[in-house]
Amino acid sequence: MKNDTNQTFSPERGTFSFSHSMVEAGKRRLGHIRIWRQSTGCAPTCSQRIIICAFGLITAAVTRYQIWAEPGAQQNNPENAIQVQNTEKHLPPPVLKGAVSAEEAISKRRSVRSFKGDSLSMEQLSQLLWAAQGITDEQRHLRTAPSAGATYPLIVYVATEDGLHRYEPASHSLTLHYDADIRRELADAAYGQRWIQECSGCLIFTAVYSRTAARYGHRAERYVHMEAGHAAQNVHIQAVALGLGSCPVGAFDDAKVGRLLRLPQGEEPLYIIPIGTPK
Ligand SMILES: Cc1cc2nc3c(=O)[nH]c(=O)nc-3n(C[C@H](O)[C@H](O)[C@H](O)COP(=O)(O)O)c2cc1C
Repeated sequence: MKNDTNQTFSPERGTFSFSHSMVEAGKRRLGHIRIWRQSTGCAPTCSQRIIICAFGLITAAVTRYQIWAEPGAQQNNPENAIQVQNTEKHLPPPVLKGAVSAEEAISKRRSVRSFKGDSLSMEQLSQLLWAAQGITDEQRHLRTAPSAGATYPLIVYVATEDGLHRYEPASHSLTLHYDADIRRELADAAYGQRWIQECSGCLIFTAVYSRTAARYGHRAERYVHMEAGHAAQNVHIQAVALGLGSCPVGAFDDAKVGRLLRLPQGEEPLYIIPIGTPK
């Protein structure tokens, strides 16, 4: 079944929570009319329907405000009470012609686990995030990596010394998600893989499976994993083209990483990619 609410193209979490809360409000309003009928034995008058409708819309607005204001509030975890901010940083536009050919980048790609530890520039970050999930068709809002039914279940975070940021494909910008350097704790959550701690920046792919499941049911899980592979390979190849190295990391404790990233319910960590200048 096609879920049109997931096909809209405004920034990810806002769109999803808005459409979801509006649908829920609509269901509630129908429920209220049913309860009215059952308790009074007659249908509500026109003005009574307007009052019920207004009540439903106010409930939706309050729900949406709560989701925007408290991204971690749905997870029953005291750590979610810690700072989650919403400061937007625009990235420089991606460069669409590079000095390294696709063939050369593919032939040179290796998993790199030893980094110099220098910082990533905004230009490098822009390019890597664009390769991961950037918009390449402004009209239809299609992205660098293919997505089953364009349902776009993936979200990309980047952990650097400047904190944990979330990538917003629609505006090609970063939103501050958590104001602390989490790389050391992320390495701990990945069974001590020290290249996560020593890299310049770590991309983390998470997935909201329900976006794809709403359309493809039980096949969604494999589709989401295929998609993560596409997006991650773009990042590995882009890293080589920038003179950087990267490493795929799939071995980590899901629950620990989910808590560390303050992920809301329904969003799962999938793939970690430490990136930096190879030593
Ligand atoms: C799904 C997946 C998960 C992986 N997880 C890890 C990991 O947790 N830690 C790590 O150091 N390498 C990890 N790797 C990297 C592989 O060890 C590496 O790709 C393999 O040894 C081949 O080397 P190459 O990437 O240099 O060609 C992973 C690779 C894949 C595809």
